[in-house]
Parts: sequence; structure tokens; C-alpha cells
Amino acid sequence: MAKHARRNRKVRFLLAAAAALAASLPVAAIAATGGDAAPQVEPRIVGGGEASIQDYPYAVYLTDSSGNQFCGGVLVSSTAVATAAHCAAAVAQSDMRVVAGRQQKSGTDGVVVNVKKIWTEPGFSDPGKGSDVAVLTLDRQVSYRPVSLPGKSDGSLYAEGTNATVLGWGRTADGGARATSLRSAVVPVVSDSSCTSSYSNYNATSMVCAGYPDGGVDACQGDSGGPLVVGDTLIGIVSWGDGCAKPGKPGVYTRVSTYADEIRAQSQSRSLLW
Ligand code: ARG
Repeated sequence: MAKHARRNRKVRFLLAAAAALAASLPVAAIAATGGDAAPQVEPRIVGGGEASIQDYPYAVYLTDSSGNQFCGGVLVSSTAVATAAHCAAAVAQSDMRVVAGRQQKSGTDGVVVNVKKIWTEPGFSDPGKGSDVAVLTLDRQVSYRPVSLPGKSDGSLYAEGTNATVLGWGRTADGGARATSLRSAVVPVVSDSSCTSSYSNYNATSMVCAGYPDGGVDACQGDSGGPLVVGDTLIGIVSWGDGCAKPGKPGVYTRVSTYADEIRAQSQSRSLLW
């Protein structure tokens, strides 16, 4: 009996160890989206942990019409989602779905909503050149609490060392049956001078970097378009990086404060008024 229990414990331990190992294995990219030096095989949000959609009700993800998750997004009003411009361009508008209020990709909680309009920051061409922001207008209202956008007095949120939280579902594993859940990681804001030495094309107006000097914690492919928040204020949108979580190569995010007025203007549910 005791021996049996011990063996069960051992089996459970081995299963847990195998699961942990599987969770840390790299996942093949389904699409090489812009900004990365080369398409490569990378893990999902790196160095983070599971997060609750209850704590981050504004975190959403984007799928194609077959339900394949390809990017993240963030509710900025009851009818609007901010995401990366390179995400908004990845799938035809008529095929794009926003999944809100859902913890697990395999779940059925929350809602799946169509997109009736896409606004992309004028001047966007490539994440590495900045302007990587878009606003999706939903074809109906959702009831999940939107994120706050930074105001004029929120400049300090971008101070070097500010701890920010990045959220995402990572990408869909090619052929993988594994359930994937919302994940989060905490990354400190990196100074403009430091990020300039990491990336020669870093632009302090349109981008902000976050990560540790030694790497280890980062967003990754499939997290693009998702939120980087301080408290419940959106300071960044996952945009690009050189690989993921590499030393000296922080994640690069769209600097939301630069685009906040525009995002706000695009988020008003005008069409619902007439
Ligand atoms: N471009 C990627 C995407 O489309 C996001 C890459 C973020 N990389 C990083 N190291 N933080 O999902």
C-alpha cells in the first residue's frame, strides 16, 4: 500500500516534470511577422507565469476565422481593441476575430467578436520603423473592463526601471494539442540610451524597451499586439525584438503615450451613436 502510494507520487512527479519540460520547449512559429531579424523558433512569453483573465479583463487575443490565435490585443473601450499594426495587417478584416474574457485558448468562456473597421497608424510600414499600432472597432459592445490609456502626467511610467507587466497567449503550437492560457511576465522599462545601444533602429518617440540586461524574461512571437501595463495603464504594445529574452536584447514595444490621443479618438463608439 505504502509502496503503491510512493510509486504514485513518483509517477505524478515524473508527469509534472515532463509537463514542465514540455512547457519550456520551443514552439514553432506559425508566421514570421515583421520586426524580427529572422524567422526563428522561440518559446512563448518567457520567464513569466500563468495569469488570470479576471485580473486583466482587458487582455484579448486575435484569431483568424478558423480560430487560430496569431496576436494579442487590449480593450481600450467597450467597442475598441488596440493592437500592433503588423497584427492588424496579418489577416483580412473579414476573417479577424477578437476573443475577450477567455482564459484558455481551448475554453468557451468569454466572447468572440467580429471586427467592422481597422484603423492603422498612418506611416506604418514595418515594426522596426515604429508606428506599430492599430485600433480595431468591434461590431458589438463587450462588457469587459478596458485598460486605461496614459495621460499627459503619466510620463513617469516610462522611467527606467519601472516594473511593467506584459500579457499574452503566445502563439499556437504547430499541430500542438496543448492548452494554452493567459501568461504574464514582469519586465523593467529600459532607458532610451540603453535601448539605442541594443538596437540601432530604436526610436524613442515611437518605441519603448523593457527587459532585464541578462534577458530571461520577455514577450515572444504571438504575443505581438498585446499589452504592457503599469498597474492598469497601458504603456506599451508588444511589437518586436531580436529573438526572445536574449541578453542585451530587450523587447521593443509601441510607445503608447505617443499615440494615446489618436487611440482615444479611434476608440469612441461613434457609429453606435447614429
Ligand atoms: N513580432 C512578434 C509577434 O508578432 C513579437 C515579438 C516580440 N519579441 C520580443 N522579443 N519581445 O508576435
